[in-house]
Amino acid sequence: MAEHVYKTSSPEETIRLGQNLARTLNGGEIICLYGDLGAGKTVLAKGLGVGLGVKQEITSPTFTLIQEYPTSNEKIAFVHMDLYRLQHPEEAEIIGVTDYFRDDCICLIEWPEIISDFIPNDRIEIVIQGSGELQRSIIFNTNYSEDYEISND
Ligand SMILES: Nc1ncnc2c1ncn2[C@@H]1O[C@H](COP(=O)(O)OP(=O)(O)O)[C@@H](O)[C@H]1O
Ligand SMILES: [Mg+2]
Repeated sequence: MAEHVYKTSSPEETIRLGQNLARTLNGGEIICLYGDLGAGKTVLAKGLGVGLGVKQEITSPTFTLIQEYPTSNEKIAFVHMDLYRLQHPEEAEIIGVTDYFRDDCICLIEWPEIISDFIPNDRIEIVIQGSGELQRSIIFNTNYSEDYEISND
């Protein structure tokens, strides 16, 4: 497991981190994003969308649960999920969550806890701590590779 902690002091810095994260992704990655309401999960998702060249604005997919966006790489889609409203793991099957775990999708999952049994072990886990105007600690863990690291520029 490689763990890295990043600190951000504004939404703009979290967007930037998301953009830098995008540069490490090739397709097929599953990113589990944890943190309380208001932590900044959707802000990070927006930054990832920018970094992947998504033209549409990334919004919170609370009502649709799953939103798929084309990226600047025509072979790769960005799939943003928000499972906050799921009550039972079986619902994830009904809405087809696991159908997106494919090499031509980059999946970012807010509130993945309820389906953690269905998520492959090769994943990037990100925990965001902090809320309100406080600085955020954004903790990355992955077993993809020992030296996985996001550039900090
Ligand atoms: N460093 C920071 N990173 C991300 N968001 C921040 C930061 N500081 C303040 N915020 C604010 O916190 C809120 C995060 O909202 P959102 O991303 O929707 O949270 P979540 O998706 O985790 O529920 C936004 O209003 C954002 O402007
Ligand atoms: Mg959100």
